Amino acid sequence: MAGARIAVVGATGAVGQEILRVLEEREFPVNNLICLADPREAGTRLSFKGEQIVVEGAGPDKLKGVDIAFFAVGGEVSEKLGPEAVRAGAVVIDNSSAFRLKDDVPLVVPEVNPEDVKEHRGIIANPNCSTIIMVVAINPIYLAAGLKRVVVSTYQAVSGAGKAGFEELEEQVRCYVDGRPLTSRVFQHQIAFNLIPHIDVWVEKDYSREEMKLVWETRKIMHLNNLPVSPTAVRVPVLRSHSESINLETERRLTASEAREVLSRAPGVVVVDNPHNNEYPMPWFTANRDEVFVGRIREDISIDQGINMWVAADQIRKGAATNAVQIAEVVVRDNLL
Ligand SMILES: NC(=O)c1ccc[n+]([C@@H]2O[C@H](COP(=O)([O-])OP(=O)(O)OC[C@H]3O[C@@H](n4cnc5c(N)ncnc54)[C@H](OP(=O)(O)O)[C@@H]3O)[C@@H](O)[C@H]2O)c1
Repeated sequence: MAGARIAVVGATGAVGQEILRVLEEREFPVNNLICLADPREAGTRLSFKGEQIVVEGAGPDKLKGVDIAFFAVGGEVSEKLGPEAVRAGAVVIDNSSAFRLKDDVPLVVPEVNPEDVKEHRGIIANPNCSTIIMVVAINPIYLAAGLKRVVVSTYQAVSGAGKAGFEELEEQVRCYVDGRPLTSRVFQHQIAFNLIPHIDVWVEKDYSREEMKLVWETRKIMHLNNLPVSPTAVRVPVLRSHSESINLETERRLTASEAREVLSRAPGVVVVDNPHNNEYPMPWFTANRDEVFVGRIREDISIDQGINMWVAADQIRKGAATNAVQIAEVVVRDNLL
């Protein structure tokens, strides 16, 4: 195909701007690009391949003639405009949680379940950022040794809450240094020099929705409907890149060196695991990278068949924009428009 006509809805946000960068870097075949955002912000200029693109207010009329529409907006906007884009003939790749658990919407991480893309009926969902990062790291272990149970604690960067989260941490640090009072608008509490074990609303048995996404979405992506997943999600004062402590109980015993070997051959994974030389994944160094970094790989000393690992990856890139563009690459490659 000569190139796809692309729309990015939410192009001025953290994920939307990153989608533009990733499309450009990966030389995605773009024939025409329209950038849409909140109508109140129309007129903003964004750069793509050296050209200035003027942002237009999002609305159904703007989506006619589009082949692929990336949605990088809140769920309410996706729910309203996504089906309109499909009716206008586009394939929608949506970053919100609006469609992720719907039976007729594939939820895809190309390193894990690329074959699910072909089941789409117009909408393909990009999973939650922490879930994408986790499944890229645990699927190779599952394929090598089976999985009985997953225990995960996340350490999530402030930019997971969009550009407003990023700005709030920077502003609070400035206020602290200047001796001015700190105010919180995006997070429930001060996030500078703090941790908040609370992301999104509480949904069931005192687990947050952010935590339950790790349960529901992991099962759907890996086609393991009964996989036990025990999650804790924590917001940390890191600007960008989520980290995760993951404990796996496997069906068959895997030594730490076997796990390291399996992971070093896995797609999208980089093993950084030389703790005696102070080498392990850290969010500052995984920011702006597309891969999922895995280290601290060790056998669980409390059970016979268990592996512990520490994972870090840029949640705006692999956790959102890069994964979305990889899905679009499968759509174009397999003629699924
Ligand atoms: N940040 C992450 O790490 C991350 C990771 C995975 C998934 N996600 C998901 O990706 C989506 C976007 O998140 P984000 O972090 O990029 O948020 P963000 O930085 O707050 O950006 C939101 C975008 O939505 C636009 N918008 C707001 N109201 C709109 C409307 N009525 N019509 C059209 N556009 C509208 C905003 O436009 P203006 O700038 O013009 O207001 C902005 O471009 C969310 O569903 C989020 O849950 C985020």
